[in-house]
Amino acid sequence: MTEIMDRIKNIAIEISSAIKTQDTGKADTCNISGDVQAKLDVISDEIVEKHLSCVSSVAQIISEEKEDALTLNENGKYFVAYDPLDGSSLIDVNLSVGSIFGIYKGDYAGENIVAAAYVVYGPRLELVVARDTVELFRFNEEKKEFEYIKELRLSEKGKILGPGGTQKCWYPYHKKMIDNFFKEGYRLRYSGGMVPDLHQILLKGGGLFAYPAATDKPKGKLRKLFEVFPFAYVFERAGGLAIDGENNILTLGYEHYHDTTSCFLGSNYEIEKVLNTYKGKK
Ligand code: AHG
Ligand code: MN
Ligand code: MN
Repeated sequence: MTEIMDRIKNIAIEISSAIKTQDTGKADTCNISGDVQAKLDVISDEIVEKHLSCVSSVAQIISEEKEDALTLNENGKYFVAYDPLDGSSLIDVNLSVGSIFGIYKGDYAGENIVAAAYVVYGPRLELVVARDTVELFRFNEEKKEFEYIKELRLSEKGKILGPGGTQKCWYPYHKKMIDNFFKEGYRLRYSGGMVPDLHQILLKGGGLFAYPAATDKPKGKLRKLFEVFPFAYVFERAGGLAIDGENNILTLGYEHYHDTTSCFLGSNYEIEKVLNTYKGKK
């Protein structure tokens, strides 16, 4: 595991440099989810594969940009699912983007996740690692290494809200719930990249991020293995919760690598409100 985390640090440094130097345009290809790939999606995927291929404990990898899993070591015990570049539609406008990693044992079901990490490519390069606790690291440009900053813990309740999806397609009860949060005084914090949006909630100590099922996306948009399970693990370890509306995210399995789910991640107070809204609705 230490070896995987060390590799993720190298991956972060290399992708960060690619973002600063490479073409920010689109490639002529789509991934299996039907998203037009940015050239940097493809480059980042290659960087992650190159590094993880050097780790003997990694049995298999699967990525948002790969149709199928790639077996690396028959005797490895870890299965790594990753989103090499999350929020790549924000690359051209120079907003923060990220990489997300879920480390599973045996198989990619939610209950099998044993660690998660994500990288934020923003004004600073930051890495969050969740195992027993959730720890923030920041890249020191002079020493060329990641330095431990602090443990991240969520409060019982926050003040900010990141409501994703197309509003005209939201179900009426979802819209009412979001309106009620704003009536309570919550402030909108939504960039369109789940890494910076969830990072903000974690660093500010609480709040709610929602990417619901809606009429245009009956199973949500965000992918279980590469995006939702890893962040659910991070939020649970930080003292928060992650649900699909009714169920704890990490009790969910998957049928296909690229399956999506509705998701709500946040502190306890907000998730309780989501549960009350969604009771009997799914
Ligand atoms: P990706 O760039 O890996 O395809 O994922 C982007 C995700 C996520 O970061 C964000 O919260 C969500 O897509 C926003 O999607 P829409 O703008 O399509 O609602
Ligand atoms: Mn993504
Ligand atoms: Mn991506």
